[in-house]
Amino acid sequence: TVKIAVVGGGSTYTPELVEGFATRHDRLPVGELVLLDTDRERLDVVGGLAGRMLDRLGWPGRLTLTTDTDAALDGADYILVQLRVGGQAARNLDETIPPKWGTIGQETTGAGGLAKALRTVPVVLDLAERAARRANTDHWIIDFTNPVGIVTQALLDAGHRAIGLCNVAIGFQRQFADFFGVAPERVELEHVGLNHLTWERAVRIDGVDRLPELLAAQAEMLASSVDMPAELIHSVGAIPSYYLRYYYMFPTVLAEQHSGGATRAEEVTDIERRLLEMYRDPALAHKPELLTKRGGAYYSEAAAQLVASLHADTGDIQVVNVRNDGALPDLPANAVVEVPARITRAGASPLPLSPLAPGPRGIVQKAKAYEDLAVQAALTGNRADALTALLANPLVPGWDTAVPLLDEMLAANLPYLPPF
Ligand code: G6P
Ligand code: MN
Repeated sequence: TVKIAVVGGGSTYTPELVEGFATRHDRLPVGELVLLDTDRERLDVVGGLAGRMLDRLGWPGRLTLTTDTDAALDGADYILVQLRVGGQAARNLDETIPPKWGTIGQETTGAGGLAKALRTVPVVLDLAERAARRANTDHWIIDFTNPVGIVTQALLDAGHRAIGLCNVAIGFQRQFADFFGVAPERVELEHVGLNHLTWERAVRIDGVDRLPELLAAQAEMLASSVDMPAELIHSVGAIPSYYLRYYYMFPTVLAEQHSGGATRAEEVTDIERRLLEMYRDPALAHKPELLTKRGGAYYSEAAAQLVASLHADTGDIQVVNVRNDGALPDLPANAVVEVPARITRAGASPLPLSPLAPGPRGIVQKAKAYEDLAVQAALTGNRADALTALLANPLVPGWDTAVPLLDEMLAANLPYLPPF
């Protein structure tokens, strides 16, 4: 049987994951599920609910809660990484500092994403090195920790067997499946780009591209779901993910952020507080409805489906973060991209794609150059490298912004950064 270790197992998202695995027991016989977290109290609360859910579902495996990293990694086959260095307090810095310097504040996109990469990459690499010593020799690291594109690039560059995961593609797949009234597995997306920087270029059902039909009949619905104008979507000719709002609607987003409402970090802090209160209830054995208020809808589906296909060598197609290897002709072979890939026991191999249209190509190539520099900066931890990366970020207006912005981000992140 399989041993799965969840790093950041005390996350309020964990009940989703637990349900995803428990309901797939036939295809993925998990013998042991380990929840690892640095926060013992949270681990006990989340783990308590996980245990009650697994009992209710009649799951035959063993659930272990631990704060001991090596014990969690020992003999693991799949290591799911969903940790968040510094928690929502650090995220709040990513959201609030950049707008003071004239650029958007977000935890994965723009300058905030660099700060998150600097605090996260060293921790995940350290974990992967420990896994290389303790886990099964052919273990997989499945990374949901943001910024997923940069973290996965760092893991693969360091030689680890890793796949990065996001829920944007699976969310679109469900949305379109509902619209066409078909099962989600029948919807194949031509999802192209980098993590949190993607477009749906085709929506195939039984091999037929239904995107033109969607664009013609459902432009307003699509526009409201990604919060961008229908005309913009027509002009691009593909459906941008809602993260592209930070690019295509930069002045609007910046104005919204300057208008002083609650940040997403503050909202999520409140949701998490309420969730944990519910999780403490010994009578609760279901994931609460409130969990759907988090952005990570279907994460558990994406994760459980990926692990199940790796394990069972199914050869089905899933959208993942993987080495390009020529799939997108516009990017180097070693670049991590987010595209459809065939999933077998040997891993994820991207399907060949035609080149990007000029508009997306310009954005993606620039963002990828920034991501490479961000990996470099996270590895050296040196201010000059971080500045080089920040200056290359497509959403950072220039040197005169980058310098004071970086100084403020580095100072504020000091408690969360590794000793450089
Ligand atoms: C989406 C993204 C994730 C991100 C999440 C944020 O699911 O794909 O990468 O972590 O949104 O959701 P939150 O509820 O934390 O704002
Ligand atoms: Mn994501």
